[in-house]
Amino acid sequence: MAKPRVFVSREIFSDSLDQIKEKTEMDLWTDELPPPRDVLLNKVKGISGLLCLLTDNVDAELMNAAGPNLKVLSQIAVGYDNIDISEATKRGIPVGNTPDVLTQTTADAAWALLMAASRRVVESSLAVKEGKWKTWHPLHYLGQDVYGGTLGIVGLGRIGVEVARRGRGFDMPILYYDVHRRKDIEAEHGLLYVDLDTLLRESDFVSLHTVLDDSTHHLISDEALGKMKSTAILVNAARGPVVDSQALYRALRDGEIAGAGLDVTDPEPIPMDDPLLTLDNCVIVPHIASASVRTRAEMSRIAATNLLNGVNKKPLITCVNPEVYEK
Ligand code: DGY
Repeated sequence: MAKPRVFVSREIFSDSLDQIKEKTEMDLWTDELPPPRDVLLNKVKGISGLLCLLTDNVDAELMNAAGPNLKVLSQIAVGYDNIDISEATKRGIPVGNTPDVLTQTTADAAWALLMAASRRVVESSLAVKEGKWKTWHPLHYLGQDVYGGTLGIVGLGRIGVEVARRGRGFDMPILYYDVHRRKDIEAEHGLLYVDLDTLLRESDFVSLHTVLDDSTHHLISDEALGKMKSTAILVNAARGPVVDSQALYRALRDGEIAGAGLDVTDPEPIPMDDPLLTLDNCVIVPHIASASVRTRAEMSRIAATNLLNGVNKKPLITCVNPEVYEK
């Protein structure tokens, strides 16, 4: 029997690729950059499964290009805002993602950004390398204290909870806002549920962990930033468009807030002429929050398993639209 054809849109860990290669006719995109749209549409023709990344736009056009054999979309990420889920569901195509395995790693990274932005780690480290360290000075590189500050979590999903847990070690009062109140978790972690305005006004650190959808697009706007403390730090390890980046630039430039730590930008990669890149008080890393060896290996394993399960009509181990199995 012919093996199912699959397209894997970027290199992942080799043992996961070997697994896929053994059981399918695999076409692997080996370039560092994503396949251009026309190439992607061509590559998916007639495939049974697609292993995709958040940089691939998986919409109705792509599903049409793939055709009726398409049995699974396996995303190597927990977020899936690049995939038209309702379109996939309408067609009965299960969509897999890679939750849980990246939760702790991403929470660590959010904290790395929080600490770096608060204590001006990147700015002062660059100054050392540029030969600007002339002396110890009582007024140089003053940042914001983290210990005991109020932490505000926007979006209390798995990652938000773990960011909060770390805050307890820093003796922080912790506020959270989410569209769904999580009373069970509040009690367990000593969190206080507040509305978004209160969170923005009272937090010393605002850490974003929402999904990206119409309701969270530019959630952090001029108006929202205007409510934050002038000493506050904003962390975004969710999705770039949750923050209006021009508004953030103005707020950081004008001292409306003290600093920001961004794992994600809008767009990605951030263009080299984006004014955020000119600011010392904005720490930006290239969407690396889940990038530890162990976590990316696990994400590869889960994405490969979902792909193989899907092409073999077996349930995915992590499926974002399980209603496809009810049909
Ligand atoms: C995700 O998984 O959604 C992250 O943004 C990348 O790990």
